Amino acid sequence: MRKYHNSDVLIIGSGAAGLTLAHHLASHAKVAVLSKNAINEGATWFAQGGIAAVLDDEDSVEAHVADTLAAGAGLCHEDAVRFTVERSREAIRWLVDQGVNFTRENDTGDFHLTREGGHSHRRIIHSADATGQAVHSTLIDKVQALPNVTIYEHHVAVNLITQADPGVRKLRCTGVYALSKKDDQVHVFQARAVVLATGGASKVYLYTSNPDSASGDGIAMAWRAGCRVANMEFNQFHPTCLFHPKAKTFLITEALRGEGAYLRLPDGQRFMHRFHELGELAPRDVVARAIDHEMKRLGCDCVYLDISHKPAQFISEHFPTMKARCLEFGIDITKEPIPVVPAAHYTCGGVVVDRNGHTDLQNLYAIGETSFTGLHGANRMASNSLLECIVYAQSAAQHILSKLNTIPAPNRSPSWDESRVTDSDEDVIISHNWDELRRFMWDYVGIVRTHKRLERATHRIKLLQKEIAEYYSNYKVSSDLIELRNLATVAELIIRSASARKESRGLHFSLDYPARAAIAQDTILMPANFANQDIIISTDG
Ligand code: FAD
Ligand code: SIN
Repeated sequence: MRKYHNSDVLIIGSGAAGLTLAHHLASHAKVAVLSKNAINEGATWFAQGGIAAVLDDEDSVEAHVADTLAAGAGLCHEDAVRFTVERSREAIRWLVDQGVNFTRENDTGDFHLTREGGHSHRRIIHSADATGQAVHSTLIDKVQALPNVTIYEHHVAVNLITQADPGVRKLRCTGVYALSKKDDQVHVFQARAVVLATGGASKVYLYTSNPDSASGDGIAMAWRAGCRVANMEFNQFHPTCLFHPKAKTFLITEALRGEGAYLRLPDGQRFMHRFHELGELAPRDVVARAIDHEMKRLGCDCVYLDISHKPAQFISEHFPTMKARCLEFGIDITKEPIPVVPAAHYTCGGVVVDRNGHTDLQNLYAIGETSFTGLHGANRMASNSLLECIVYAQSAAQHILSKLNTIPAPNRSPSWDESRVTDSDEDVIISHNWDELRRFMWDYVGIVRTHKRLERATHRIKLLQKEIAEYYSNYKVSSDLIELRNLATVAELIIRSASARKESRGLHFSLDYPARAAIAQDTILMPANFANQDIIISTDG
């Protein structure tokens, strides 16, 4: 089997960000898309509520910007917010042109817009309660039909490849080593431009709404290759995931609260008005913390989300996926409340990029949840993330195409060296470390943090990383080992960022520093081999 693959642009990730980019590039460049599992396995497929955009005449860019800034607790970059929101109408028009079937009003035929936490207007365009599936399946169909795009499913990127050119002091990114799950070999993918569209890192927590793929691979690879990473302490916990012993990870969309669902304690009392004037529609960090507080106060396993006071027909029309999934567990949402708990949902921090999605390393881009654009600040507002994927995929495409002809083809990289490793005989180490890591991250670096807990986590992660590094250098890579190594890197970045923030802001709440500092500052971590310095290395392995 051929182990070298060359393209103009290599996109790692086949979610909303990666496929939108592939689509914009395909008429002008030869594109390769890697996906570590099947093409549709990523957070995008599971998105429910919708996409935030200024579409209603009564709404405005100013209002969407103001809401995003307020939810972001003083840490959003206003220029990034404006850049994204100003392009929201165009982003939706593009999706509609691709054929995404958004829900319309029965009477007027206009798009139905719903509400979610933090939004002052109805501005969430959606496909019932399965928006991600509608968007993703449309993009998949389109991209699969493009002759210039080759999709490599079941290929797990391991490490970025960099190259030093004669007379040039800065490194450039020229590709990636990727493990094919088909032949169990590490292949070399080379390209003039490389894009990380690998999604978030919520799998670092024991309980998460995310699919298994969310192991922060892009963030970890970029960090190892010398890119800055920012604001990793801001892990968003979605307030309402289904609580049922047999439901692995199932989100109960915030749009339910947008359409009037109440949060109730086990005795039926509502409680959110005690925490925020917007009640159930307060920003997500406030709702998740309120639920966590009430669960700890009462010692209960869950709280309840109740929409049963709305007409059954309305519920069935707007929330068919919620209804069907809950029924599988014997819960009829038209008649009874749904047991819910918070779970890790979204990574607000990520690889530092500019307006074009360009990172610190030449010709390396990052888009979608893996990137840090400055849009989300200390707390992402609901449904702004799919919007960010579409908007930044477009700006990255323009930038890549504007310079592609000036980038020389990469030199042939060395093939993957397996001469000093053997087959692992003890995979239990991987599964044990994986469980341990996710559990201590949940217990020590979760919704509420303390100095002591973070110290414990620092100690634990150091030990784990030592063991993982030893394992990595002695045994052949497997997809589980690659993910574990990346999760450990991302956990370290989260713990370091959380420890550095001596205040409470947005999603980062510390019992030792409960007040918000007067000046808002990003936490920017610098790798030892920062790519903007004149340091020459050949690969990041
Ligand atoms: P993803 O869609 O996660 O795709 C990542 C891709 O990278 C996958 O193809 C994966 O296989 C690939 N990949 C990862 N690592 C590697 C590797 N090492 N090698 C090769 N490939 C790799 N946001 C909204 O705006 N509105 C919503 O309603 C909404 N609802 C949500 C509901 C749920 C349950 C979840 C989990 C998230 C929701 N979000 C929502 C967030 C949003 O879905 C994500 O932020 C967004 O889809 C991320 O898209 P992406 O393209 O960046 O990454
Ligand atoms: C949801 O539907 O509640 C998720 C929306 C989001 O994460 O943006």
